[in-house]
Amino acid sequence: DAAATLEEKCSNLILSNKDIKRVSTILLKEIEIGLCKETNKIADIKCYPTYVRNLPNGKEKGKFLALDLGGTNFRVLLIQLGEATPEKEFASREFPLPDLIRNSSGEVLFDHIAECLALFVKEFKVDKEILPLGFTFSFPCRQEGLTKAKLVQWTKGFTCSGVVGHDVADLLQKAIHKRDDVNIKIMAVLNDTTGTLMSSAYKQPDCKIGLIIGTGTNACYVEKVENMELWDGESDNSNQCIVNTEWGAFGDSGSLEFIRTNFDRALDSTTPNCGKQLYEKMISGKYLGEIVRRVLVYLAKEGLIFNNSSYVRLLEADTFKTKLLSEIEEKPENDLSDCKRILEELGITNFSQEDCAKVRYVCQLVSKRAAFMVAAGVATLINKINEKHTVVAVDGTLYRKHPHFRHLMAQKIKQLIRPGLTFELMLSEDGSGRGAALVAAVADRMDREET
Ligand code: BG6
Ligand code: GLC
Repeated sequence: DAAATLEEKCSNLILSNKDIKRVSTILLKEIEIGLCKETNKIADIKCYPTYVRNLPNGKEKGKFLALDLGGTNFRVLLIQLGEATPEKEFASREFPLPDLIRNSSGEVLFDHIAECLALFVKEFKVDKEILPLGFTFSFPCRQEGLTKAKLVQWTKGFTCSGVVGHDVADLLQKAIHKRDDVNIKIMAVLNDTTGTLMSSAYKQPDCKIGLIIGTGTNACYVEKVENMELWDGESDNSNQCIVNTEWGAFGDSGSLEFIRTNFDRALDSTTPNCGKQLYEKMISGKYLGEIVRRVLVYLAKEGLIFNNSSYVRLLEADTFKTKLLSEIEEKPENDLSDCKRILEELGITNFSQEDCAKVRYVCQLVSKRAAFMVAAGVATLINKINEKHTVVAVDGTLYRKHPHFRHLMAQKIKQLIRPGLTFELMLSEDGSGRGAALVAAVADRMDREET
């Protein structure tokens, strides 16, 4: 019957336990290839050293700024650290970052950022002070130090020219120097995973993994320096460093072809970074809605859904946003009211109750596959760290908003980790911007202690 056929047509979106274990096994190998100096050049998962090592110790004082670029929102933050209460004050402001700027030139992008900074410091009346700044720049960067980060490639739909291969701290500093109304000292550039890990590790020293499931996906973790051949920073007593895996690029050399579907391939071909970030494109918020849309259009063309409907808008790319998966899957199985409303809003006519159930089914398949794929990644890191208990700091809109993602993911991680190991997923409360301000504060304290 029709329902069985629909399930058949979608069956390649279902991962078996064997598939997921295989993902985990390959991922571990790929991380090891990334960590090894000799093979790093050919690695998909680059495992970048971050140069973030020292945790805040409570002696950080003063006002610090942070910039947070690369997620859903572009934000500027101000935090004030003092002796008595470590965090007395916290202010933040989101600024729009139109697609036009995301796809312009580096100069336009960094001028815009500098302008937002100027507006912010005026609004909060700190424009007369020289403020240390932490810059969360959530893209793959090769770092040569805390304040030197060269963009390796854009991800998540950004395409600004003249930035790849350049130091983003330098580009930002230049844009700031062009103006006479901002006085800022860039103390650190970090990835959002690192920011998330730092802001949680501040409260929870067991925290060893920073995970993002948002517009993109990525993880960083605490690695022993001895396992990190790429580390060329100074060594300290901890003998640890944070590795930004950039696991979004997992699969770029073909290792995920055994589970990628034609929907994934078709989606990939329309992105500006075609052939790149293939693991990310099966998992994160920028892509899940579009996968669902493509599956629905395919099923409709096969005559398995929307038989009496018109669905013209659904034929347009990006009309089905990932937040719709969260809304559709929220209500109990027998309540399809949200799904009905959403289909109406998408301009689909004359659909049936059955069609609603099918849409929901497709959403569930796509979310579940994503949750299991991330679970494979997290379990791999937990097993690699191999400590009795590992806390994972998590952030990202998809993780925060999706009603079942965290549960599906946690369940699968449990099945995949070594017996005897335990873990906890901890939602990062204030995002990675605060982590960036903390890193800036530590760097500033170290600077002052040295002089
Ligand atoms: C937030 C960070 O915590 O999570 C952002 O502050 C980060 O920098 C984001 O990129 C990831 O989520 P999303 O959904 O905004 O991409
Ligand atoms: C993309 C970026 C990565 C970031 C992740 C989550 O994968 O390349 O740097 O951490 O998205 O925002």
